[in-house]
Amino acid sequence: MRPRVLPDYETMSTAAADVVASKLREKPHAVFMIPTGTTPLGMYRGLAARHEREGLSFARATFFNLDEYLGLPPDHPASYHVYMQENFYGRVDVDPERVHVPDGSAPDPEAECEQYERAIRVSGGVDLCVLGIGRNGHIGFNEPGAPFDSRTRVVRLAETTRRVNATDFEGERAPERAISVGMRTISDSRKVLLLASGANKARAVAAAVGGEVSEEVPASALRRHPNVSFLLDRDAASALGDSASEGEPP
Ligand code: GLP
Repeated sequence: MRPRVLPDYETMSTAAADVVASKLREKPHAVFMIPTGTTPLGMYRGLAARHEREGLSFARATFFNLDEYLGLPPDHPASYHVYMQENFYGRVDVDPERVHVPDGSAPDPEAECEQYERAIRVSGGVDLCVLGIGRNGHIGFNEPGAPFDSRTRVVRLAETTRRVNATDFEGERAPERAISVGMRTISDSRKVLLLASGANKARAVAAAVGGEVSEEVPASALRRHPNVSFLLDRDAASALGDSASEGEPP
């Protein structure tokens, strides 16, 4: 697996939107698993622009989000429900019946996790899973140590993640727990696309691409996936040495 390196964030985001758009054209009823965070914002902007300009339609596709904070109601401003509505679902023609975000306020979180995993299965499985990466190598909210065979479940967030994500909580640390799809759930996707931007991701990217495949670096699991692409901007690739290729398509 050779990561593809683009000169900057905008180019990386356009390339990511291209991958999603071409999957949609090939299979309008495709099933997507998609992330939150700052990294995919440019991709979502690009997809919303294509919807507006070119009529790219998402109406037949199905979407599953990767994760949600535990204890947050869907209308909490820091919830991933609100993020997704503002940045993507509310800006394109998705069918609300085909949009899934884990319910962080479910009275029985374990049952919510089981139901989520079942819904993914019933949908026929994920065609394209788009991921960001945490500074500690997490994917979704699968923190270091997450078992490679895990499924959707309640997870405890790393202290570093809670601090980094404090910006969404007016400086308070993020909640202690979240619902996250599992490592196995991600690996079962037919195609995986990981996006990383910025120098603060360089170490995690280098560990995922060039270090040992280990549960201590969740993103390293992707190296065992038969159809994975890493799309990086130059800063995120800065600790990689020669193992990356400039510009080749994923
Ligand atoms: C968040 C999300 C992840 C995301 C990662 C990186 O906490 N749960 O799905 O990929 O951390 O976020 P960012 O893109 O803001 O750096």
